[in-house]
Amino acid sequence: MTTASYTVRKWVKPEDLNQHGTLFGGSLLRWIDEEAAICAIFQLGNDRLVTKFISEINFVSSAVQGDLIEMNFSVVKFGRTSITLSCHVRNVLTRDEVLTISTIVFVGLGSDGLPVAHGLTDATQGSERVPFRESRRLG
Ligand SMILES: CC(C)(COP(=O)(O)OP(=O)(O)OC[C@H]1O[C@@H](n2cnc3c(N)ncnc32)[C@H](O)[C@@H]1OP(=O)(O)O)[C@@H](O)C(=O)NCCC(=O)NCCS
Repeated sequence: MTTASYTVRKWVKPEDLNQHGTLFGGSLLRWIDEEAAICAIFQLGNDRLVTKFISEINFVSSAVQGDLIEMNFSVVKFGRTSITLSCHVRNVLTRDEVLTISTIVFVGLGSDGLPVAHGLTDATQGSERVPFRESRRLG
C-alpha cells in the first residue's frame, strides 16, 4: 500500500492548559480527533465520517504554554467502510515524545447515516479526493 502521512503543528496557548499549567489532555485529544478526521476525509473523500475506535493512549510527557506540538498521522489500512490511522505526537521544542496512538478508526457514512463502502485500498498524499462544494464567493 502507498504510504501517506499528514503532519500538523499547534502552539500551546493559555486556553489549552490545565489547572497545573501544563497542556490539558482533553485539548490534545480534541486536536488529535479533529486532525485525524481531516486526514481521513482527505483519504476517503467523504466528509460524513465518524470516529469509531481509538486505542490505548499513554501520555508519556507534557508541554507548557508556548511549546510547539507536532502531530503526525499515518494511514495504517483501509477496510471496507473504514480507515485506520496511527498518530505520533511530539513536543518540537523539547524533542520529547508526548504520546503514540496505534489505532484510530474512522467509518465513512452514507446519506442514510449507515456505513458505506469506499472501494479504496491505497493512500494518497494529495487532496484530489476531497469532496467538491460549490464556491461560496459572493458576486
Ligand atoms: C460508526 C457506526 C455507524 C458503525 O456501526 P456498526 O454497526 O458498528 O457498523 P459495522 O459493524 O458495519 O462496522 C463498520 C466498520 O467499523 C469497524 N468497527 C466496528 N467496531 C469496531 C471496533 N470496535 N474497533 C475497530 N473497528 C470497528 C468495522 O470493522 C467496520 O469496518 P470495515 O467495514 O472497514 O470492515 C456506529 O457504531 C456509530 O454510529 N457509532 C458512533 C460514532 C460516533 O458518534 N463517534 C463519535 C463522534 S464523531
